[in-house]
Amino acid sequence: MEDELKKQKTEEAETTSRREFMVRSCGLGAAGLAGVAGLAGVARFMLPTVTYLTPKKFLVKTSDLPTPGNELVFPDQRVIVLRRDDGHVAAVSLICTHLGCTVYRVATGYQCPCHGSQYDNEAEVVAGPATEGLPWLPVKVVPGGQVEIDSGTRVEKNTFYSVA
Ligand code: FES
Repeated sequence: MEDELKKQKTEEAETTSRREFMVRSCGLGAAGLAGVAGLAGVARFMLPTVTYLTPKKFLVKTSDLPTPGNELVFPDQRVIVLRRDDGHVAAVSLICTHLGCTVYRVATGYQCPCHGSQYDNEAEVVAGPATEGLPWLPVKVVPGGQVEIDSGTRVEKNTFYSVA
């Protein structure tokens, strides 16, 4: 009887120590995770915020704009600048409104190589799957003989600007 009682106490002690071990382990694990999360949060504020996206606004020297009656593609910004015969300019995004591929210029307008969307010369959709026209963008004259084109903003189609 006494042996059995000792054995039962030993088993209880082992069970308790295993339970304590698990509780301590989980506690340490949770504390460790909290510590890592805390360090990550601190590191986020210590490191510079860097984005590799193309900036939405870009500058073009007025001397680099297309000559009257011509147009010029800015491939890095995926924008085309159109210049009427009277010298006014407009900018149109070349980013397909379906899933964002870069459209290219064709005689009838713009063509998307990815899924075949087509746009007319005013950048309106003539064949899907795109359902929206290409965005026309604001062009603003800024000091230093330059214009600023904002590809993050839309304006009415056929909006041309004087750059004189
Ligand atoms: S991305 Fe242009 S049609 Fe799909």
